[in-house]
Amino acid sequence: MDLSQSPLTVTTRSPEETEAVASRLAEELAPGVVVCLTGDLGAGKSVFARALGAALGVEERMPSPTFTIIHEYTGTGDVPILHVDLYRISGEEEFRHLALEDLMGGAVTIVEWPDRAPELLEYARWQVDIQITPGDDQREITLHYHDARTRH
Ligand SMILES: Nc1ncnc2c1ncn2[C@@H]1O[C@H](COP(=O)(O)OP(=O)(O)OP(=O)(O)O)[C@@H](O)[C@H]1O
Ligand SMILES: [Mg+2]
Repeated sequence: MDLSQSPLTVTTRSPEETEAVASRLAEELAPGVVVCLTGDLGAGKSVFARALGAALGVEERMPSPTFTIIHEYTGTGDVPILHVDLYRISGEEEFRHLALEDLMGGAVTIVEWPDRAPELLEYARWQVDIQITPGDDQREITLHYHDARTRH
């Protein structure tokens, strides 16, 4: 998988194959980087997010963050890993109340449903879009690299 090519689309045929794509992407990540995951309900965003976390050294179980919105974990080298799910936020105002932008600088941030807070997309270094395709367990995963605004 050549991640210097963007956008890059890969097809996976099982959750395990999707996890392997996430593990490869994890090698590119560092504190301050935001990864946005888009795709329909059940596409595999949480599967991808958990595999990213595991590859970054999170040893805890990573439950779905839907009700908590932000879950914070610790990865290798004490790097904070934020797993965020914006599905249930009411809008931009609630997003600002989360003060996520204050936390993101030193962390690797993984966001499901980033489209709920469009201003966040400006910070996305990687956007990963997962499409459900006809055919059992098949997904088309497109990785876009962006020269994102950096947090200070
Ligand atoms: N190729 C695949 N890649 C990823 N997941 C797959 C694949 N094939 C089947 N699945 C299944 O699809 C489901 C994806 O669920 P997941 O919770 O990750 O979706 P999600 O995009 O986070 O949904 P939501 O928007 O509800 O949070 C899992 O049950 C997983 O086993
Ligand atoms: Mg999810």
